[in-house]
Amino acid sequence: MTKILFVCLGNICRSPMAHGVLRHRVAERGATGQITIDSAGTGDWHLGSPPDARAIAAAAARGIDIADLRARCVRAADFRDFDLIIAMDHKNVADMAPFMPSEAKEEARAKIKLLMDYAPALGATEVPDPFHGGAADFPPVLEMIEAACAPMLDDLLGPRGSYL
Ligand code: 4NP
Repeated sequence: MTKILFVCLGNICRSPMAHGVLRHRVAERGATGQITIDSAGTGDWHLGSPPDARAIAAAAARGIDIADLRARCVRAADFRDFDLIIAMDHKNVADMAPFMPSEAKEEARAKIKLLMDYAPALGATEVPDPFHGGAADFPPVLEMIEAACAPMLDDLLGPRGSYL
């Protein structure tokens, strides 16, 4: 069982889209029991809220339902409970520092990766924050997320679905 936590700022746009994309692709591969997925934000403005309506719509247009997800904040236990913590941008990485257990900051830091590290060919290091944009800004962000989640899943499951 691999446990993956996606992290962004508000947990209502990018990380729930990533959560939903990976959950959907894992289910398509019949691997739901092999990977645990969650998402969280470094900010606490939207606790308990569903994803932004524009994120729900962009995901739905690709056949992915994220309406059930609810925002929560990153917590210290996440750095023990999850194997991989996937941030959307460098600020998310910096903002996670205060949540890390003080006795295990190095182990915690070693679990953090940027989502775009999985898709170097795109030439982007960060997933841009679409929150202050318009609805049209969400589908391109979702495409970036999908482009990174596919190789991430191959890493986790192997290209033909065998669990490594
Ligand atoms: P996210 O986008 O980090 O992709 O969920 C944001 C959502 C809300 C806010 C900022 C970014 N906010 O300031 O409320």
